[in-house]
Amino acid sequence: MAATVLDGRSLATRIEDSLRAEVETFAAMFRHRPRLVVVLVGDLAASASYVKSKSAAAARVGIDSEVVAAPATATTAELVALVESIARGERGRADGILVQLPLPDHVDSVAVLDAVPPQLDVDGFHPENAGLLSQGRPRFVPCTAAGVQRLLIDAEIETAGRHAVIVGRSDIVGKPLALLLSAKAPSTAAPPARHGCDATVTLCHSRSADLATLTRQADILVAAVGRPKMITAEMVKPGAAVIDVGINRVDGRLVGDVDFESVSQVAGQITPVPGGVGPLTVAMLLANTLLAAELRGRNGHA
Ligand code: GUN
Repeated sequence: MAATVLDGRSLATRIEDSLRAEVETFAAMFRHRPRLVVVLVGDLAASASYVKSKSAAAARVGIDSEVVAAPATATTAELVALVESIARGERGRADGILVQLPLPDHVDSVAVLDAVPPQLDVDGFHPENAGLLSQGRPRFVPCTAAGVQRLLIDAEIETAGRHAVIVGRSDIVGKPLALLLSAKAPSTAAPPARHGCDATVTLCHSRSADLATLTRQADILVAAVGRPKMITAEMVKPGAAVIDVGINRVDGRLVGDVDFESVSQVAGQITPVPGGVGPLTVAMLLANTLLAAELRGRNGHA
């Protein structure tokens, strides 16, 4: 039986529709729009394309955005100084700052990311935001991890008491997603808001022994490794929900970490690439930017 394909695009459109209304309410109250500043370093075509789609999505919901470009030759110190100047408001108001990754090899990415003040860190990468998430009191949650959780909630895929296996331990996706899915559901939450937490989580990585034995135990299998089509049908339990976070460019085409053709014959639900998790990452960035502007407004700095 073929799996149900989870349509990330249509969910992202619904999220954008509700964000647009919230942004209008914010703008009427504070007399300005939330504003996102994106730092784009160098001339990687993929990064330029992602940044373009983030700016276009911001415009669709009424969030102002600006892209600040820096040359591929920029040093760590120059980029840190650039981020600091944006944070001080020297390039106009910034409610949120996003430094598009990857940065050139000679740059100390951690130093540049750490220069983003935690209150403006709409990517959720700053140690303060990572720490808050790990303590179960999230502020800005990394966008892709938040998008995967949102997709599970929307599709009403039960997570409580079930086994989620995540392949990939990155700070951007694997680790925060493990924290989200294993978090205790708020006692007041009713279904379907209870979906997306209370799972038993296994976090796999490149040194995990006998990966297929682990992935075959998954009720929910998340692939976030960046290796084209590495998850094949034999690695999937029949009926499992398979979430593909991979965005790999192969011969000019986008290919996920999951071999969609074979896995969709075994899985219960599956996300496509493109059109699965990707649009949700962007939608969660917009939600984080609105949240950043709201927190700033609430603190009297609007
Ligand atoms: N490059 C690939 N994914 C991401 C992301 O989620 N945030 C940033 N800043 N850069 C990325």
